[in-house]
Amino acid sequence: MSQVLVATHNAKKLTELRRILVAEISGVEVLGLDDVAPYDEPPEVENTFEGNALIKARAAVAATSMPSLADDSGICVDALNSMPGVLSARWSGTPRDDARNNELLLAQLADIPDERRHAEFRCAVAFVTPDGDEFIEIGVVRGTILLAGRGSNGFGYDPLFRADGQTYSNAELSADDKDRISHRGRALRDMVPTVAKALRRR
Ligand code: IMP
Repeated sequence: MSQVLVATHNAKKLTELRRILVAEISGVEVLGLDDVAPYDEPPEVENTFEGNALIKARAAVAATSMPSLADDSGICVDALNSMPGVLSARWSGTPRDDARNNELLLAQLADIPDERRHAEFRCAVAFVTPDGDEFIEIGVVRGTILLAGRGSNGFGYDPLFRADGQTYSNAELSADDKDRISHRGRALRDMVPTVAKALRRR
C-alpha cells in the first residue's frame, strides 16, 4: 500500500483531505502529522496560501522522507479587502477558536448589506516528493457571508458561508456535497493525478 503524508494536525481538515484521496487513489494510505514522529514545524510566514502550503509540505518531506501534501486555506471577504485570507485561522487571536472567529467576522460585516457580502474560500494544495519535485494546485469557491451561522457540519467559517448556487450553508451540506463544491475538493482533485503518478513510481 502506498503512503502519503498530509502535513496537518487539523483533524477535520485531514478528514476532508483523506476522504477525497481515498476515493480517488486506490490503495492509498493517508497519514496525518499525529501519525508520524513529531518534528519542528516552521512558522507559516508567507503572505500567500501557496507559499505557506509549500513551507508545510517541504518541512514534512524533510522530516519524514515521505511524499507529502499540505493545504493552506482561508476565507477572503470582498468587503474586507480579501481579509482574513492567510490570517483566517487566528483572525480573532490565539489560540485559534472557530466560534470567536465567526463572531468577529459577523461583527465586522454588521453594517454590510446582502449584496456586498460576497466572499470566497481559497485553498492551495502543495505536493512535494522525496526527490524534490514540487507541485501546487489552487481551488476557489465563491459565495456569500450569511447574517448568522447555520448548521453544524464542517469546521471554521462553514456555518457563515453559502456557496453561489447553493441553498444551504457549507455547514448544512453533507460531507460529499461539501467535497464536490469546496475549494479544498477542487484543488485536491486537480492534484490527484500527480500524487497517483508519484506513488506508482515508488
Ligand atoms: P490553515 O490551517 O492555516 O490553513 O487555516 C485555515 C483556516 O481557514 C481554518 O482554521 C478555517 O478558519 C478557515 N478555513 C479553511 N478552509 C475552510 C473550510 O473548508 N471551511 C471553513 N473554514 C475554513
